[in-house]
Amino acid sequence: MIKEAKTNYPINELIKKRWSARSFSEKEITEDEINTLFEAASWAFSAMNYQPWRYIYVKKTDKENFEKFVDCLSDGNKPWAKNASVLIFSYAKKKYDDGNLNVSALHDVGAANATLILQATSMNIYGHLMGGYSRTKALELFNLDINEYEPVVFIALGYLDKPEKLEEPFKTREITPRSRKQINEFAKKFESS
Ligand SMILES: Cc1cc2nc3c(=O)[nH]c(=O)nc-3n(C[C@H](O)[C@H](O)[C@H](O)COP(=O)(O)O)c2cc1C
Repeated sequence: MIKEAKTNYPINELIKKRWSARSFSEKEITEDEINTLFEAASWAFSAMNYQPWRYIYVKKTDKENFEKFVDCLSDGNKPWAKNASVLIFSYAKKKYDDGNLNVSALHDVGAANATLILQATSMNIYGHLMGGYSRTKALELFNLDINEYEPVVFIALGYLDKPEKLEEPFKTREITPRSRKQINEFAKKFESS
């Protein structure tokens, strides 16, 4: 409840409920659940319906490969992300089939990630996006050609556990209420001059 969005205007319950958790329980996320999340992601909008999102995932039960994902993460993410049930790497196909740059690719991967996370939230699975990782390590691990693909974010997924499980500073962050800019700081009605 402490993390639930405190809003000035009514919003959808799912959007209120989502937050970036770090304390994950041992409860496994099943392959069916993972496929449900990717199914949801696939229904995001994208320029030309090109669907430039790409995902590679690993489950914690696959210890050896899970460790390889964790190794890509920054030191600020490793201590808690290693407890996730699933780690996902999201990346973008940069070009259309004709070789032209898809300037909306990053936008569209973001949209798919948001859709995936909201679906997860509806299943009581919490996700945490991470831009803190080594691009060099990720490109090498996933054998990606930077001319064709753009790394986006890693995503940690899991069922929630108690904040006390975390070490500081993560424990405090886990119980700090979320805040946002006021609407007038980022949106305004157009007025012609
Ligand atoms: C592109 C992107 C990169 C992020 N990278 C990190 C990260 O490396 N480590 C981290 O702890 N959180 C990361 N976050 C999570 C944000 O800090 C978080 O979404 C923000 O503080 C708002 O909190 P909320 O998601 O709980 O509302 C990232 C989020 C996004 C969208």
